[in-house]
Amino acid sequence: MLQTLRRSRISGVGKFLPPRIVKNQDLEKLMNTSDEWIKQRTGIEERRWIEPGMTNAAMGHEAAVQALKDAQKTPEDIDAIIYATLSPDHFFPGCGVMIQKSLCPGKTVPALDIKNQCSGFLYALSVADAWIKSGIYNCVLIVGGEIHSTGLDQSPEGRDIGVLFGDGAGAVIVEPTDKTGDGILVTKLHSEGEHLEKLWCHGPSSSDFPRLIKGSQVIGESYFPSMDGRFVFKNAVTRMCEVMVESCQSIGVKVKDIDFVVAHQANLRINSMVLEQLEVPAHKTLNTLQKYGNTTAATLPIGLQEAKEGGLLKPGQLVAMVAFGSGFTWGATLIRWS
Ligand code: UT7
Repeated sequence: MLQTLRRSRISGVGKFLPPRIVKNQDLEKLMNTSDEWIKQRTGIEERRWIEPGMTNAAMGHEAAVQALKDAQKTPEDIDAIIYATLSPDHFFPGCGVMIQKSLCPGKTVPALDIKNQCSGFLYALSVADAWIKSGIYNCVLIVGGEIHSTGLDQSPEGRDIGVLFGDGAGAVIVEPTDKTGDGILVTKLHSEGEHLEKLWCHGPSSSDFPRLIKGSQVIGESYFPSMDGRFVFKNAVTRMCEVMVESCQSIGVKVKDIDFVVAHQANLRINSMVLEQLEVPAHKTLNTLQKYGNTTAATLPIGLQEAKEGGLLKPGQLVAMVAFGSGFTWGATLIRWS
């Protein structure tokens, strides 16, 4: 006889932002930009950039410790780790094993790395959900962490991308839920590799022959991220709207039934267009972009943490998360919050 699959829920949230605040005015001194342009075109006012000595995994560790505390768990309870980042500390291995080492040394839990940029957290959540549902694991730690600042062109020409991104980490604990109807209801994920070069970073590339030349430090244009901003913008609005509707339809609810939306933070104009098109009132969301810039895979868990801390997430609410980014990859999830 088929058994009903159990559900999973997010039982704890945490975040870590490096203390160094970089304001738009600070960037005016580095790049050919202005506070006015950045605020008007993106909504960003400041972002956090690391100081030398900080690592992606160290930020992830701090966020994970907070998430464990929030879930009333200890590192001993962790069954599996998933780390979503596009900016790992090393070419290999990924940050997952670094967290395993720092958080639960001696406990040989699996550690999986996911490289899906802005939607990385949703891809990670989908894997954790499947692991929990199928009974393989009972306590999965997901971390989304990014260090963008060390990879940005901070010269006058770097303004297109350099002003947009920030560093930080967020984490969640995913566990089974016993309450019928609670937890993660659905996650819908998509990709469209046709547009991979519309937002990407070419190097260092294994297909460059050779990848690097010993003794020489090559800093070519291809080592900095590049983006066709307008194209990405249009696709972000279309795809985030589509996937929200698709997620709702798949479980027989309406977009208007959603109580709260935690959306990816790339541009406030993108988010207000998405909400407007979906007819979701602005008070049903929160934006962190003004303070943190775009922190790609870290954005959603940071947003979730701030929403929970701010008392905006209440048991029984239908909470949506949605993201779009490089790849292109995008997705949405619906959670009955508990
Ligand atoms: O997280 C992954 C997903 N990412 C996104 O969704 C980002 C999507 N794209 C965007 O958010 C926007 O396209 C940007 C914020 C990146 C750019 O805004 P835009 O309104 O699309 O500007 P634009 O690229 O069309 O550029 C308009 C002008 C250009 O000058 P000209 O050619 O009109 O003289 C740019 O060179 O603004 C100039 N510009 C800047 N000026 C001052 C571009 N960047 C800057 C800057 N400061 N930082």
